Amino acid sequence: MINTVDKSNLTEIGYVDQEVDPTIDLVTEIKRMKQEKNAVILAHFYQENEIQDLADFIGDSLGLARQAEKTKADIILFCGVHFMCETAKILNPSKKVLLPDLKAGCSLASGCPPDQFAAFKKEHPDHLVITYINCSAEIKALSDIICTSSNARKIVESIPLSQKIIFAPDRNLGKYIMKTTGREMVLWNGSCIVHELFSLEKITRLKNKYPGAKLISHPECETPILEISDFIGSTNALLNFVSNSPDKEFIVATETGILHQMQIACPDKLFIAAPPDNSCACNDCPFMKLNTLEKLYLALKYEQPEILMDESLRLQALKPIRRMLDLSDKLGV
Ligand code: 13P
Ligand code: SF4
Repeated sequence: MINTVDKSNLTEIGYVDQEVDPTIDLVTEIKRMKQEKNAVILAHFYQENEIQDLADFIGDSLGLARQAEKTKADIILFCGVHFMCETAKILNPSKKVLLPDLKAGCSLASGCPPDQFAAFKKEHPDHLVITYINCSAEIKALSDIICTSSNARKIVESIPLSQKIIFAPDRNLGKYIMKTTGREMVLWNGSCIVHELFSLEKITRLKNKYPGAKLISHPECETPILEISDFIGSTNALLNFVSNSPDKEFIVATETGILHQMQIACPDKLFIAAPPDNSCACNDCPFMKLNTLEKLYLALKYEQPEILMDESLRLQALKPIRRMLDLSDKLGV
């Protein structure tokens, strides 16, 4: 039985705006409701530690999309950002997909408005559009193939050399793929507000202080950071790298949430968060960190905010995601 909730200001505020009894043990209550409602909790590596600890599955964008596709649960409580929840809804429309805070967006998604992207596409009519999953459903609907940081390189390499490509919306990932594949692509000029802020100077100083430490970076980072990195990969690839490496110290140039799983996987190793170019905690994604245990509890209790989508948009957006998942299986990524 769903308790009633005032939905009138949900879109404006972003989350269920109710007092939470401070005596409630949120973790126990969330687990109880999860069982009762046949819900699954999916969390991205950038979520707060306590949310990661509660999740049924923790992963990167590709892993989460795959889990969302195959779940048998009736409700997907998605602890990530809006574009990830949309992807879950596109792949599994009969499920109720909940996002604890609707304002959990992404600078890459908001930096690529559909009308401007449609005009950009028109300027390059003979190009295939490969789009990073960090974009809205409307942008996915305008794309030919979606990719994530786990499979972008192999997907680009699978396209015949004669085919011209638009790569959007992350210019840094695009530049990195161009460099590693030797392929020219037309890039949309978007970036991640977290990954573009790492300081080359401060990282160089850290490397001097920890000469044995390996610098590992996400491909959303700016080129000068990638150029001095020992390893570049998606969040999942970074986690696998530290787990399998004989090295003991790592400077990690991505969102800080991933350090939690690294520390669990390798309790004897040292992980240092790469510093941003100012004094704030800018390597915390402000969107990812909008999700809190209180909001998770309220979202599951009231089954709100729910991701809803027009069916024709969903079907259009599904095509390039399906193409990615099929290609990814074929290419073994
Ligand atoms: P991955 O999860 O694909 O590594 O992407 C990182 C990211 O920025 C997600 O928003
Ligand atoms: Fe978007 Fe960057 Fe946050 Fe990922 S870390 S959700 S790319 S703003």
